[in-house]
Amino acid sequence: MQISNRTKHAKAEGAFEVLARAQQIERETGVKVVHMEIGEPDFPTPKGIVEACKKSLDDGLTHYTPAGGIPEFREAVARHLSKTRNITIDPENVLIAAGGKLLIYATCVTFLEPGDECIVPDPGYPPYQSAVSLAGGIPIPLPLTEENGYQVTAEELEKRITPKTKLIIINTPQNPTGGVLSKTELEKMAEVVKRSNAVVFSDEIYSDLIYSEEDKHFSIASVPGMLDRTVLMDGMSKTFSMTGWRLGYAAVPHQFYGSMKKIVNNTVSCCPAFTQMAGIEALEGNNPEVHMMWEHFKERRDIIYTLVNEIPGMSMIKPKGAFYAFVNVKPILDKYHLTSADLAEIFLQKAFVACLSGSIFGKQGDSYIRFSYATSKEDIQRGMAHIKKLIETEYPV
Ligand SMILES: Cc1ncc(COP(=O)(O)O)c(C=O)c1O
Repeated sequence: MQISNRTKHAKAEGAFEVLARAQQIERETGVKVVHMEIGEPDFPTPKGIVEACKKSLDDGLTHYTPAGGIPEFREAVARHLSKTRNITIDPENVLIAAGGKLLIYATCVTFLEPGDECIVPDPGYPPYQSAVSLAGGIPIPLPLTEENGYQVTAEELEKRITPKTKLIIINTPQNPTGGVLSKTELEKMAEVVKRSNAVVFSDEIYSDLIYSEEDKHFSIASVPGMLDRTVLMDGMSKTFSMTGWRLGYAAVPHQFYGSMKKIVNNTVSCCPAFTQMAGIEALEGNNPEVHMMWEHFKERRDIIYTLVNEIPGMSMIKPKGAFYAFVNVKPILDKYHLTSADLAEIFLQKAFVACLSGSIFGKQGDSYIRFSYATSKEDIQRGMAHIKKLIETEYPV
């Protein structure tokens, strides 16, 4: 008996593993850990969204739904994407799935034959590499560097495209760096993509979490000629604090729609009607909590940026979007011959701060630690104070 190579190469998502370890430490020591490992807003789902779900349950919407999603939600998503991306999305092209993550997997399975290449950001959201491996494909890392403000350059992209490249995954705003790809660079990248055989998967799950006007979200699907070769993904988890609801969506070009829907249909069948009805309220209702959450994230970003840069041996550039601080710890690693995984473990064991080793996100993350700042201001201040004290006393640089 044996398991497939495809599953051997796929990894479990690190954030969930660290969360489990941190909870174990809490149980064993009784000390409250500062949780900065998992990327999920600490706010409740806005009330109006919860009420819309309750009403749907009371109305008896508890049965299977069409695999692609209920028509009313697909229409709401099409209106939302058309308005926010300045393109025309037909509801017929909207595919609803149990979380954006399932759409990553569905896309890889749809476009990759064994041995095909898929370009993935490095550092990047770890499930990209795993989904490529599960589909039998080969992930080709595309480096994002701090010096370059975590921009992807069209030249670097072009260098990695071969006849085997079937899929290119891009992510803006980015997990783990907080970088936002610029319109100018995305337009140049689109020209490179158009000269290839590849389809783009554009992960825009943090599209609403950008903190300054000048960094406005831009989708590569909006570049003329790109809509037909882009799977544009977004979802409810981050903007609306709906991580546990498992609701994501994509605009899928007509010619690929049926294939991708088959993956959703053959795995989870469909999404519950009551979450989709809540999704309509999220996209089209008036929920002031959504803006309030954005304001909190922006304030927390400024706080963590200041605090991190006050710790000797640690530094970061200001994240433009999402809710992650990607912190350069190279001086500490070099002086004490540590890996970023060692340092993340030290932070958990000695400072009681749970965070992620940058290496989880790819080779380019080797000298970094990711802190999620989707946690309270007080916790961020407490966590950074513990780390500062630890570094100053035990790991001075
Ligand atoms: C870049 C990125 N894409 C997709 C997802 C998955 O989101 P969902 O909860 O919709 O599956 C995440 C969640 O952390 C993410 O960071």
